[in-house]
Amino acid sequence: LAAGPLAGRRVLVTSGPTHEPIDPVRYIANRSSGAQGTALAAALRDLGAQVIFVTGPASVPPPSGVQVIKVETARQMLEAVEAALPADAAVMAAAVADWRVANAAGSKMKKDGTGRAPGLEFAENPDILATVSRHPSARPGLVVGFAAETDEVIAHATAKRLRKGCDWIVANDVRPDTGIMGGSSNAVTIISADGQESWPMMGKDEVARRLADRIAGALDGA
Ligand code: C5P
Repeated sequence: LAAGPLAGRRVLVTSGPTHEPIDPVRYIANRSSGAQGTALAAALRDLGAQVIFVTGPASVPPPSGVQVIKVETARQMLEAVEAALPADAAVMAAAVADWRVANAAGSKMKKDGTGRAPGLEFAENPDILATVSRHPSARPGLVVGFAAETDEVIAHATAKRLRKGCDWIVANDVRPDTGIMGGSSNAVTIISADGQESWPMMGKDEVARRLADRIAGALDGA
């Protein structure tokens, strides 16, 4: 049996990008590698948690010793997350596509010889973090969201925490010059109802260990 401060705790982690099909061979994706979510799942496991790891098509392999549920689209991710509840905590590190292609084709789209390009129509994806945060019967005791922003990081992340109804937001600056997205380091600010705390740039593994410690502290006695 696992030992550690999170022994007996069930923690759900989402990670990676989602892929939203355009047709059977093409999709819309984003640059998330899944590195931070994977590091978090490993750190939570190391503290003794039973980790349910719901991951989109990430470029880093999932950690060992966790329950891995692989999905592709945002809607599949939501379904997997809802099926995994209840949990003591949920950490939503996935970079979920905000939109899916509403007019995705069932067979491969072809050039029609006229030079006209096809028009894609988009539909909004479900917000998994907001759904979990406002779950009527199985809201985890602690819900942690992430906010990857390119400007006004703290202001946007603070608003996001309230809008989504989560307890903490882990905010980071993903402007290309920071090297954070797809890189191995991260500089985050943790925003909660009690205020905010900025951590210096450190490895994603170290961010994960510190966050896992903090999660263990928050669940302690809960
Ligand atoms: O709104 P935005 O995508 O910036 O919010 C980021 C946070 O919300 C992350 O924790 C992400 O995992 C979560 N999210 C989600 N479902 C979505 C969009 C974002 O769970 N459809």
